[in-house]
Amino acid sequence: MDKNGEIIDQMDHIGFGFIEIGTVTPKPQYGNPKPRLKRLVKEESLINSLGFNNRGADNLLKRLVNRNKNITLGINIGPNKTTPFDQVHEDYIFCMQKLARFADYITINISSPNTANLREFHKRENLERLLNLVIDERNATPNKPKLFVKFSPDEDLKIYADMIELINSIEIDGVIVSNTTNDSDLKNSVGVSKIPGGLSGKILSNKSNRLLNFVNENLNDKKILVAVGGVFDVDSYNEKLDLGADLVQMYTGLIYEGPNQVREIIRNGK
Ligand SMILES: Cc1cc2nc3c(=O)[nH]c(=O)nc-3n(C[C@H](O)[C@H](O)[C@H](O)COP(=O)(O)O)c2cc1C
Repeated sequence: MDKNGEIIDQMDHIGFGFIEIGTVTPKPQYGNPKPRLKRLVKEESLINSLGFNNRGADNLLKRLVNRNKNITLGINIGPNKTTPFDQVHEDYIFCMQKLARFADYITINISSPNTANLREFHKRENLERLLNLVIDERNATPNKPKLFVKFSPDEDLKIYADMIELINSIEIDGVIVSNTTNDSDLKNSVGVSKIPGGLSGKILSNKSNRLLNFVNENLNDKKILVAVGGVFDVDSYNEKLDLGADLVQMYTGLIYEGPNQVREIIRNGK
């Protein structure tokens, strides 16, 4: 939500235990043309095709120099739209070099549906090369932030099995499940098949929870499992914990329920 790290303190004040900012890309970019965000009010969901609108890594770096170090901060990184696929790994490395020293964790975002070919990094050969480069960069950073990989909810089980096998065998600290879905059946079911972008909120929760369960069953216990997708209240938060989440995030629920819901969930959740 906070693409440029402008409201870290405010997010902290409403009660979150940790904040994730971004996705940030090396260079500033406008993102996709508007309209690119729509409320599906009846379904308590959103469809968005923002496309990594952000002011770029240098702008974020300036803000982070004086950041409040008591706030646990994740920085979510991704490539610019115009970067050719065979150079995309360089964008992640650029962001690591600029920003990793300010982060408690880095999210390697390979799962936005709004950047062409990004989800190709769910394929083992592409993922392995990228993650090994990012791990080397992290290990060269004095504070050694944790590294999380953020999954799409739309791949085949075999793809996830291969990804998890890889992640279990290398120095990646955890997985975030999941990004938005561009499942055509789900989009059809709510009449938005012609609108580009991914669905978030309540309509995503079953799909995201099924994947959470699968990842929990297969991911090494020492890894950190972060759940996101359809958290609106205490029950949907508890469900994520029951499915094995170590940490929980919310985005769309914050929009529909408002900022007071964060403390409500933390007070009354498991
Ligand atoms: C408007 C909007 C913008 C988003 N931008 C990003 C992004 O830049 N990077 C990212 O990893 N996920 C992004 N997401 C996905 C969310 O972080 C989250 O994974 C997804 O929306 C599911 O959670 P929710 O149901 O609580 O919204 C975005 C979601 C929305 C609704």
